[in-house]
Formats: sequence, structure tokens, C-alpha cells
Amino acid sequence: MSVHSMIVLLLLVTLCAHGGKGEESAGAPRSGHVSVVIVGGTGDLAKKYLWQGFFELYVHQVGSGNTFSFYGGGLSPADAATPALFEILKAVSCSKDASEERCALLKEQFLRLARYRQLKTLEDYQALAEHIGRELQQEGITEAGRLFYLSLPAFAYVDVADKINRSCRPTGGPWLRVVLEKPFGHDIRSAEVLATQLEGSLKDEEMYRIDHYLGKQVVAKILPFRVENKKFLDPIWNKHHIERVEIVMKETLDVKGRISFYDQYGVIRDVLQNHLTEVMTLLMMRLPTNLSSSEEILQRKLQIFSSMLPLRKNQAVVGQYQAYQTTVQQETNKTKDHVSRTPTYAAVLAHIDEAQYEGVPILLISGKMLDERVGYARILFKNDVFCLQSRDGVHCKPKQIVFYFGHGSLQYPAVLVSKNLFRPVVTDSEWTEVTEHTDVNILGLPISDYYVQTPTEQKEAYSELISQIFAGCKNNFISTENLLASWGLWTPLLNSLAGTYPRIYPGGGDNRDLLDIRVNGKDVGYTREVVIISPEQMGATSANSFQVMQGNFRRADMVSAWPEELVERLAADIQKEAEAAVREGNVFHLAISGGSTPLALFHRLALHHFSFPWSHTHVWMVDERCVPLTEPESNFRGLHDHLLQHVRIPYFNIHPMPVQLNQRLCVEEDRGAALYEKEISGMVHGSSFHFVLLGVGYDGHTASLFPGGKADEVGEGLVALTESPLKPHQRMSLTFSAINRARTVALLVMGKGKHELISQLSRVSDKPDKWPVTGVKPADGRLVWYIDYDALLG
Ligand SMILES: *[C@@H]1O[C@H](CO)[C@@H](O)[C@H](O)[C@H]1NC(C)=O
Ligand SMILES: *[C@@H]1O[C@H](CO)[C@@H](O)[C@H](O)[C@H]1NC(C)=O
Ligand SMILES: *[C@@H]1O[C@H](CO)[C@@H](O)[C@H](O)[C@H]1NC(C)=O
Repeated sequence: MSVHSMIVLLLLVTLCAHGGKGEESAGAPRSGHVSVVIVGGTGDLAKKYLWQGFFELYVHQVGSGNTFSFYGGGLSPADAATPALFEILKAVSCSKDASEERCALLKEQFLRLARYRQLKTLEDYQALAEHIGRELQQEGITEAGRLFYLSLPAFAYVDVADKINRSCRPTGGPWLRVVLEKPFGHDIRSAEVLATQLEGSLKDEEMYRIDHYLGKQVVAKILPFRVENKKFLDPIWNKHHIERVEIVMKETLDVKGRISFYDQYGVIRDVLQNHLTEVMTLLMMRLPTNLSSSEEILQRKLQIFSSMLPLRKNQAVVGQYQAYQTTVQQETNKTKDHVSRTPTYAAVLAHIDEAQYEGVPILLISGKMLDERVGYARILFKNDVFCLQSRDGVHCKPKQIVFYFGHGSLQYPAVLVSKNLFRPVVTDSEWTEVTEHTDVNILGLPISDYYVQTPTEQKEAYSELISQIFAGCKNNFISTENLLASWGLWTPLLNSLAGTYPRIYPGGGDNRDLLDIRVNGKDVGYTREVVIISPEQMGATSANSFQVMQGNFRRADMVSAWPEELVERLAADIQKEAEAAVREGNVFHLAISGGSTPLALFHRLALHHFSFPWSHTHVWMVDERCVPLTEPESNFRGLHDHLLQHVRIPYFNIHPMPVQLNQRLCVEEDRGAALYEKEISGMVHGSSFHFVLLGVGYDGHTASLFPGGKADEVGEGLVALTESPLKPHQRMSLTFSAINRARTVALLVMGKGKHELISQLSRVSDKPDKWPVTGVKPADGRLVWYIDYDALLG
């Protein structure tokens, strides 16, 4: 055995994913009695997975020194619900290697340890706690811990957690663990509220938020696989080699019977925000040095979230299966004219803004009523081999690694590595290489073209996770920070998609190419440009909302549109001017203001304008706050983060304002304003910028020229120190004299909040001391207002 593989082995044996076999891991320091309470113990989930999982836990723990009692809790009285619970319990099954006799014995013991309890009121929970206490005392055994599994609708969590805290918290050494199922909120706000409320009753280490996808064997294998095969993967796990990443969960089922839940969530909240996002972080995170450290894994995940580029509307397509509307109307008693826009299919294109993955498309795709049931993550690599003649040769075929979670045409979960990549190592005794293949094709390759590994024994995700909860191992659970980071990523997209009509698809094989998508630069779209709108949807909207309107505002030109179209138009106009200036004089001087309004424009320029002549563009600042340029408040910092670092602009062409000279901020004697003025007059012909982008504040200020400003702001100088009524008070700004020499000045105004201002501005005459923006009057140039409909129409 090489030194390398020994190190890998050492790493793997410390993995806490292998808990639940009686070894004492960090979270389960003492053996003793364990009380397991499934609240919602006769519900669907409990029936299908949970009792089976706890039975398996019990079987593994026989002889470990731990003893158990199991409680199925519910709202119904015990006499009514007890028979139902025992029907469920009798259906648990033993593993294949247990003899019939032993199996019967184990089941009998398990049933004897289980009972039903009504858990409705606080008194019910108190009675349960007293019961547990009495039993411990009678048997004379020490307590190891209490495990509550809340298999309940999410609205009940806070109340039940509170009751548990008030009555069932063990005293002294025993642990308390409370397991929660998604949904954990439906956006960032509600998730924050829920997290805060739960924090009142439970400590973070006591909460186990389940994402059952993380219990799937192949998902749990992603990080160990990356570690085991590090020497093969390191050279290729980057933008130079990865063509695309796809994370896909296809379902054939519809959502009948679940509409009241589903219609408020939809596929993005139900699958993409949690399952697929978690898989993505496992694939893309920097490898932790210690696979057992949930803290380190969390930090690596959070790092991925913080470097995700924001998801915007044109990075997603949504669909809805045709029969959905009818089901909604039936199950929610809505009338025929009720239209639900809840998507049942979504494909989203994400990007990670790190040098390693720059530009690599990451697709997250899921839907109901599709042609097959399958879940996988595929890393497709670029193939740089050109096959002149031997086109069927192994080198000419797709190069890919497939984490095949299950279902579909392959009968078992597996990790597949195409043979033209490398032969993966198998060091983990719970995995084995498959060499005998049936004739099946997986994502474009016959299975014989892959190295295939599969778990020696298939395990249910819930059973795996239950044994990890018992072992106190938190690696595969969703911490509060992780959850909020994920909602932080998805909430803006969900908001921007709120008004979108999904494409209607018939379902199953009939979908044909209707849901196929194409990645186009940073956008994703349907390949087929037909939109089928159901009769119910027609007429429900006056959907000619994509027009751009031309007009006049304050005797200047005005362009108005919905926000996204407006930003697209402004970006296109800037590029047009840039190209004209470069044709004419080989240089384009652009002066940009700060604040939040232009951020959407910066993104647009960075992600869609690849032919922008950045190498001939000089970027100047319209104004700056007197803070160090590295501070988040600095306008330059915002411009840097949202635009400059994403485009190829020569460093020499970037001109931040000198607000920090001699290690102090905007001191008159340091003559920062004069310095910037000198730079402008030295480089910009006639000190006339080609394009100046301005915004307007609620008080009518523009650049950093505020109402009641000082004389030198309106004098001959190009740059001045000014005072803002808002913190930070000190500013540096271009003056009217500089602005009004420009060839084109654009005033960008967006958002409902600016409507009142726009109405006032439409009435007032030019009074720069009261409404500074009215002092913007290019002497020989053109002024154009870009006002979105929200600001224009309110
Ligand atoms: C649980 O309840 C007690 C009061 O019984 C309270 O002091 C405590 O802060 C609660 N929360 C936690 C996390 O212990
Ligand atoms: C890895 O992390 C686990 C859990 O925090 C810890 O018990 C273990 O000592 C760590 N191993 C190494 C080699 O640092
Ligand atoms: C819909 O109406 C039926 C019959 O009137 C009723 O039984 C059912 O509870 C209603 N469902 C909802 C969700 O309101």
C-alpha cells in the first residue's frame, strides 16, 4: 500500500458518516437509556421510512450497552391510534442476512419497547417526561439521551419545540436532539423568523435539520470520492477542463394530494433550494482537510455560497405540467378562473465567481411529470482530442464523472467514471467495483465505457441519517447558517420569477423537446421558442409589458421600461457610445456614480457585453465617499466588486478618486480634488467625458452635489469636496462644470420609492440649489433620463 492511500484510509476511518455501530463518537459520549419520540408517528413519512430506520438503529445497537424505548406521538387519543401504530411497526423488515428466527425475535423486542402517546397539550408532554423519568428510576438505569423526530407540518415546529423545551429537556448529562424536516421557511425572511423562534427553545447543536438527499449513499460519497481520487482530480477540477456541471432530479409523479402544500412552494423551493443546492456545494467546495469536522465542512460550504454570482431571471426557465391547474382547482376549491403560476419544472444556471470555476455553467434541474425518474450529478469534461478516423475510440467519447443517486435505467446507486479519464481508487470497504454489466446506456455512454463503483449494501437515506443523529454526527445536516445562505441565494430569483408564467408541458414522454434548454453565455433559455399558454392563462394578463417607451422628461430625452429591459437598454446604449468613441479616437472615457441603483447595470455589462471595448475604456468616478477605498461603503469598492473585477480592463485605465492621501481622508490641504482635476484635464480631451452616468437621491441630489451646496460646486473647478446630510458626510464629487461638459449624461432612476421624486421633478423649474439634479444641463452634449416604470408610474 502506498503512503498516499494510507493517508486516505486514515482520513476515511475517522469519517463520522460511519457512526451508529456502537463505537463512541464525539456526540454520544455515554451509553445508557435512549428515548426516541416520533411526533407524527403514524404519519406517511414515519410509516414509510422512520420506523424502519429506528428499527435498524435498534438492531445495530443490540448488545452495545444502550437500551431504548420508542414512542409514537400524535394528536389522536391513544385508544384510537395505538392499533394504527402497531400495524406500521409490524411492517418493519430485517436485513437480508438475519435469519427468520432472529428477525422475529428482534421485531418482537422492538414492538415491546414501543408505545403510542397522545402529544397534544403541554400536559401531554409533561406526562411523557414523567413517564420517562419513572421508567429510568424503576429500572435503575442511567439516561443517555432523548431524540425527538418532528414529522409534522412546519407550522407546528415552534410550538412543539417550545413544549419540548418546557417539559422534556433532560437535566444533567443526557443529550437532547430534535430532528426537523423541510420546509424550513419559504424565503430568507421566513427562514430567519423560524430560525430565531426555534433558537428560543433549542440550542443549535440540539437541532438536526434533515435533507434526506444528504443521506443517499452516493451523495454522501461525493466528498470521500474527491479525497480518494485527489491526485487524478486536482489537475482537472477547474474551468480549463470542466465543460459543465449538471445536477438533475427528474420525477414522473404529479403532486396530486399535496397541492395545498406544493402550490405555495413549487419545484425551486421544494427541490432546488435544498437537495440540488446541497449537492452542488459538495461538488464545488474546496476539500476540507478533515472530513469529520462538520465545522470545516460548513465553512467550505458557506464559502461557495458567498462566491455564487447572484441568480437572475434570465438564468432560469420554469414550466408547469398541464393537468396542474385542474388539480389546484379541485384540491383548493378554487374557481375556474384561478390561475396558479407555481412551477413544477425549473432549470437554473448558476456560476461560481472563483478563479477555479470562472465561467463554468452549473445547471440545477428538476421537475414533476417528466419522462423518467432519476437523480444524478454529472461533471462533463472538455474533450480536447480530435479523432480523425477512430471516432468510436475511447478517447473520442464523452469524458465524465457521474454520481448516480438512484432509479433510472441503472438498478443501483453508483459512481461512474468514464474510462478515458482515470481508474478511480476503491479504498472504502463499503464500496465495490462493478465489472459485470447489463447492456445499459448511462448519459450517452454504454456502461462498459465506465469504471463503476457501488455500495456493497444499499441503505435507505433515512436509516443512514437516523444512525448519524444517534451518533451525534452533524456533517450531513443543515445548520442555520447553511440554510440562510441557501435562501439568500434563491430568494432574489424567486422574487424575480414571481410574475413569470411557466411554460405548460403535457407530461411524460409527450414533453419531447419542449423542456430542453440551451445555455447561451450567462443566460439559459428553452431551445424551442414555442410558448403554450393554456386557455385559463390567456387574458389573465395584459402581458405586453416588455415594451420600451421613448419620451420626454424635463425637456430632455427619456427612455422608460420595466427595470430589466431598462437596464438592458442602458447597457446597450453605453456600449454603442463606447464603440463610436473608440472608432473615432481610440479611447472611451466613462464616469460612473456609486450607490445601489447602478448595480444591475454593472452586472449586465459584466455578464452580457463581452465585446465591450474595455481595453480602450477609462473608468472615472463621478463621486466618492470619504472612506478608504476598501470599505464596503466606498463607491469604488462597489464598482470594483460588481464590475471591474469581472471585466478585462487595464489597471492603468482605472481612476478612483484620491480620497485618502497622507493617510487621512479628504483633508482640504491634501488637495485631493485638485489632483483628480489635474488627472482629468491631462487625460480627457477638453475634460469632456464621453459618458457620465448619474443617479438621483430622494432629496434631489445627484453625484455628491446636495441641496444648499457650497459655491465651489457651481464654480469653474471640475472636482470639489462636498458635504452630505447623510453619513459619511464628507464626499468628493465632480462639479456641474465637469458634468455639463460631457458628451452624454444619463440619469438613471429606478424603483417605486422614487415615484414621488419623479412627480416633483416633472413640475419644478431649474433650481440647482434646491434640486441639484436640475443643474445637470450638458452645454454641447445630450441628457437622457432612464426611468423605470416603477419610478415613473408608481
Ligand atoms: C428553554 O426553556 C428555559 C425555561 O424553561 C429557558 O430558560 C431556555 O432559554 C429555553 N431555551 C433553551 C435553548 O434552552
Ligand atoms: C477531525 O474532526 C473531528 C470532529 O471535529 C475531530 O474529532 C478529529 O480529531 C479531527 N481529526 C483531525 C485529524 O484533526
Ligand atoms: C372543498 O370543498 C369540499 C366540499 O365542499 C370540502 O369537503 C373540502 O374540505 C374543501 N376543501 C378545501 C381545501 O377547502
